[in-house]
Amino acid sequence: MTPVTWSRAWRDAARGFWAREEPGGHFTTSASALVADRLAAIVHEVDTRLGHPRSLAIVDIGCGDGHLLSLVRERCDGLGARARWIGVDLRPVRIDGVESVVAESPCDLAGAPWTGVVMAHEWLDEIPCDVVERDARGVDRVVLVGCDGVEMLGPSIDDDDACRSVGVDAARVRAWLRLWWPLREPGDRAEIGEPRDRAWCWMSDLVGAGTAIATDYGHVRAERDALHHHGTLSAYHAGRLTRPIPDGSMNLTAHVAVDSCAAARRGTSITLQRDEVPSSPFGQGDSAADVERYFAALRLRDPARLGGVAWLRWDV
Ligand SMILES: C[S@@+](CC[C@H](N)C(=O)[O-])C[C@H]1O[C@@H](n2cnc3c(N)ncnc32)[C@H](O)[C@@H]1O
Repeated sequence: MTPVTWSRAWRDAARGFWAREEPGGHFTTSASALVADRLAAIVHEVDTRLGHPRSLAIVDIGCGDGHLLSLVRERCDGLGARARWIGVDLRPVRIDGVESVVAESPCDLAGAPWTGVVMAHEWLDEIPCDVVERDARGVDRVVLVGCDGVEMLGPSIDDDDACRSVGVDAARVRAWLRLWWPLREPGDRAEIGEPRDRAWCWMSDLVGAGTAIATDYGHVRAERDALHHHGTLSAYHAGRLTRPIPDGSMNLTAHVAVDSCAAARRGTSITLQRDEVPSSPFGQGDSAADVERYFAALRLRDPARLGGVAWLRWDV
């Protein structure tokens, strides 16, 4: 295959990968009882704020097998028949009482905008993006990749026509990089987060009244400047971090520039998972479930790991 941009190679690879694979086969997400507790509390807050509307939709974008959505539903019994539970993914969700929508998002979704909560848990990092690298002469160039993962440097991002020939809008890339992730040294790389900005705006536009929540591994400008000179594009296969190859055999991911998403939709707040998930003090109970809860809370609140997952929130 002729080398193409990362966004194109990634999109094709993701379609093949997710047509066959379940998330649990390759990595663990933080979708769990304690996260569901917090999300259910947000659903109740929204329901109260909106005056208990006749119909409240709880929509999960990139819901996988619907596990998290069902955990939230178990905690929202009191909503009864007023609640609609909708799971959107590339594959059908097979859970009684959950409406399954098979769609590659962002796209038009029937019934939107909804009154209620639209959430996405570890979905934004799945949105394919392009990669730019600074070459030895200091020129920022689009990275092209073959389906074997071998990369070459493509057009300069200052060359609008050459970028257009590989499907890249150079003006958008320049504008995004300048503001959010300027490259400094030869070899520096960045993922262009602009498609994630648009995905977050799309998600929040699905909410007519209520709240949009997206949780994901993320970074902000100060972290990128200090830590991520070579980008964050990576891959998981069978539970292991591995070199990204866009051949459909592995899950491709890159952390989300959450500050640029937040700036794209005015009114967005950013918090960290460690502040959203309540602590579970040791000694609160001594049953096996209490001890499990204690350790689950520790994992979700560990600042160096799941505690650093960002929560984007927008209320209307
Ligand atoms: C990392 S898994 C997260 C699953 C679940 N939300 C969780 O936290 O366990 C990403 C999910 O997003 C889905 N997905 C990836 N790209 C998508 C797209 N463009 N539209 C809809 N779903 C997508 C995949 O099929 C997969 O189920």
